[in-house]
Amino acid sequence: MAIGKVLGCAGFQHSAVPTLREPVRLRAQCRRRGKTVSMSVQKTSKTVQQAEKMLQEFRQSSSTPLPLLHQVADALVQEMYAGLASEGGSDQLKMLPTYVENLPSGSEKGLFYAVDLGGTNFRVLRVELGGKTGQILSQEFKEVVIPPELMVGTGKDLFDFIAGTLASFVDTEDESIKAHFVQSGKTRESGFAFSFPVRQTSVKSGIVIHWTKGFKVDDAVGKDIVKQFQDAISRSNHQIMISALVNDTVGTLAGGRFNFDEETMIGCIIGTGTNACYVERADAVHKWDEPLPKSGEMVINMEWGNFRSPYLPRTFADETVDKDSVNPGDQWFEKMISGMYLGEIVRLVLARMAKEAELFGGNVPVKLLERLTLGTPHVSKIHLDNSPDLDVVAKVLKDVFEIETTTLEERKIVHEVCDIMGERGGRLAAAGLYGILKKIGRTGKSRNGSKKKTVIAMDGGLFEHHVRYRSYMEEALQELMGSDAAYEVALRLQNDGSGIGAALLAASHSHFK
Ligand code: BGC
Repeated sequence: MAIGKVLGCAGFQHSAVPTLREPVRLRAQCRRRGKTVSMSVQKTSKTVQQAEKMLQEFRQSSSTPLPLLHQVADALVQEMYAGLASEGGSDQLKMLPTYVENLPSGSEKGLFYAVDLGGTNFRVLRVELGGKTGQILSQEFKEVVIPPELMVGTGKDLFDFIAGTLASFVDTEDESIKAHFVQSGKTRESGFAFSFPVRQTSVKSGIVIHWTKGFKVDDAVGKDIVKQFQDAISRSNHQIMISALVNDTVGTLAGGRFNFDEETMIGCIIGTGTNACYVERADAVHKWDEPLPKSGEMVINMEWGNFRSPYLPRTFADETVDKDSVNPGDQWFEKMISGMYLGEIVRLVLARMAKEAELFGGNVPVKLLERLTLGTPHVSKIHLDNSPDLDVVAKVLKDVFEIETTTLEERKIVHEVCDIMGERGGRLAAAGLYGILKKIGRTGKSRNGSKKKTVIAMDGGLFEHHVRYRSYMEEALQELMGSDAAYEVALRLQNDGSGIGAALLAASHSHFK
């Protein structure tokens, strides 16, 4: 009897998904018609054994033991120093000064806007900041999908689209809000969360270095991004001033500082793309040739997605993903850990197993060979399936790859591939964060047993929704820190970090202050 059928019997009780790391001999208890039947099932399928062998090799080549994570973190720290030393000092980490010298204090007050362009969705929001109460009194937002052709079109078309969305958002506002701006004589001000590498020239201007995450708007590169947006706003016949240009990580850090506590030192995004920023001592930014900020601090946008190191456990799938991307050779770290690529990596591994080990039968399912069919939300669903029969896995395989029937063993292999990739991504992301903590002196052992606190403000769909990824990340960070660490590190979700943070920074850099 096929194992899938055995485990599929009604009322089967199993506390957790049997993984392939467990012994091949499975023991299942099946309650049928009130009677408990115990059975042992020996897997026999030759092709499954072959796929399992491939799986083991894959697990091996993707593994991230603690010493390797330390090596990754140390390599990152080395690049951080190089990137801070001189412009182009690191060919990996840009370590961009953001001109954000002060994070929100909680006293920001008034109505501010934010536009958030960073992935396939674009958001416009309005927040009412409460001043001394340190609260967000109200907020409203609108989200639209960026038409795919605009992601690879001209700067004018892209900015006309986002300026048009912003314009229609303010046009449909309540009369009371419109009256507020008329009566106060103030122009609307917005923060611009622009989540691509930008060399900032002030807190409200910056030159696009290049695009990531599938965007490729070539004529916008090398030009001031705020000017391009501001010109599009003028073309829409509206008056809205961009008073802060912020990377999404910086927005997340700002929002974290506002919401959590003083010790929020890092902002990190694990979503479609990935990146981190942190609060650096201004005098450690050797390439900074302007007067040192009064606060003595500067937020640095690392652009860590472009980190690469021989310690990163890359597989054939990573190489293929890179080769087929719009930016081959760039963003290795991002391509290994972020949401835009996770699904594709899993698909490539499954396709190879289908071809070489006849996983899913003699014929390779056609859809499995199509690029980008499996999204990261699918991977997350598969990974979270802990039903005894892996029903969700079966459904995803059917819906996405049109594979009508699968055995439980095959589904377990699919589940396992997602686990391997989730584990690798989460642990590598943790190594990156540990590297930053090391750079700012927040690692090491506690002398007297007491612990200080450091908060890392997190945002991004992968971190938010992929619960297993997140727990791998949290566990690895604790492993890296050690149980006797001087700091207790908390990863806190700063929901909609980039948007709110951009509005907060627009408020603290307001023209009307
Ligand atoms: C971009 C970063 C951004 C990150 C997360 C990366 O692809 O280069 O600027 O912060 O994605 O959105």
